Amino acid sequence: MTDSSPGDKPAVKADQASRPYSPGLEGVIAGETSLGYVDGERGRLTYRGYRIGDLVAHGSYPAVANLLWTGDWEPNHRLPTAPIPPAVLAVLRALPATTKPMDALRTAVSAWGTTLDLPWPPTVDQARALTSFSPSALAAFARLRAGQEPIEPDPSLDLVEGFLYQLTGSRPDAGTARALDAYFIVGAEHGFNASTFTARVITSTRSDIVSAITGAIGTMKGPLHGGAPSEVVDQLSQVGSADHAEAWVREALAKGERLMGFGHRVYRAYDPRAAALRTVAEGMAHKPDWLQLAIEVEDVVLRVLAEKHPDRPLKTNVEFYAAPVLMGVGLAPDLFPATFSLARHAGWTAHALEQAANNRLIRPDVNYVGPPERDLPS
Ligand code: ACO
Repeated sequence: MTDSSPGDKPAVKADQASRPYSPGLEGVIAGETSLGYVDGERGRLTYRGYRIGDLVAHGSYPAVANLLWTGDWEPNHRLPTAPIPPAVLAVLRALPATTKPMDALRTAVSAWGTTLDLPWPPTVDQARALTSFSPSALAAFARLRAGQEPIEPDPSLDLVEGFLYQLTGSRPDAGTARALDAYFIVGAEHGFNASTFTARVITSTRSDIVSAITGAIGTMKGPLHGGAPSEVVDQLSQVGSADHAEAWVREALAKGERLMGFGHRVYRAYDPRAAALRTVAEGMAHKPDWLQLAIEVEDVVLRVLAEKHPDRPLKTNVEFYAAPVLMGVGLAPDLFPATFSLARHAGWTAHALEQAANNRLIRPDVNYVGPPERDLPS
């Protein structure tokens, strides 16, 4: 120990003043990844170098998840949903009827972790097991709150088809399953967003993969992260019909409202995920009524936003076309954020694997801005 005297009491560390602080860590490089690349200026998104549009056109969610976990492209890779351990089902049954789907999913994942021994470092098998468990848990919760019994997984169905089957009790038609699968692919990974960063921070402490994903779900629960598609539905229902779109949009902007599904912190060009989802939704055999309205409203919104913000490119983001796809497959809007979380399981778990493979405890510094060292009042 060293003695100190009043003369040794700096308010902040000497080097702190010279180091820049970026609120929200905006612009700070906080890691390295080979999983996904978001090029906001050009409106490009790749997973391990492969374009998102090509992955949607030629892949499936299980193949994309496997690509993120292993780096290998196996287009026929399968991943059925997994059964729910009895202890986890008991937890789901015990939840109050008012439980929100994100809380139910977070609780189910955490409870699932108590039934297993999941040592650090995380493995691809752990990632696969967790990603295939969670859709069963969310489907079971949705049925229990509606007074229905959960449905066992059908191992002949792939993950997204199996999720819809366990949710509704009937096998979805191919177009419906394909549309939701596309949504899962575009939602699988998106760089160092808040929930992915959370998963990496937790993994960096050598905590287990379940803790990492439980924390990530808690992060995605925040409306700044996972809430927009149901708000798109609210806005489209307020618009009602394409004839009213222009008047509604101008009035909303005059009131200072944000138009949901437009603008993005990173993309300055059309979000490639929105383009991919629009193509898939247009290809659905039973096109959702919401789709035609969305297409007509989009034209109006883009024109009015360009007029109001000539220097700030505000384009369509993924949430805008996620809304008609999710409505079109018959999901209740309050399930949208939890369904987004199911899709992001592939990315979260892949980031946990990547973090663990080259681990360094994530522990940034903070500028101390409180009072200087002082004596307690006597
Ligand atoms: N509707 C109307 N005006 C908008 C919109 C919008 N959707 N987005 C930005 N603007 C305007 C702002 O009012 C601001 O105008 P001002 O300069 O006159 O004040 C200007 O554009 C810049 O806005 P910022 O908030 O600085 O833009 P930023 O890029 O940081 O915001 C955000 C990104 C939060 C997504 C914003 O565009 C928004 O609120 N969009 C609506 C919500 C939404 O769709 N969220 C989903 C995003 S995708 C995802 O998270 C997966």
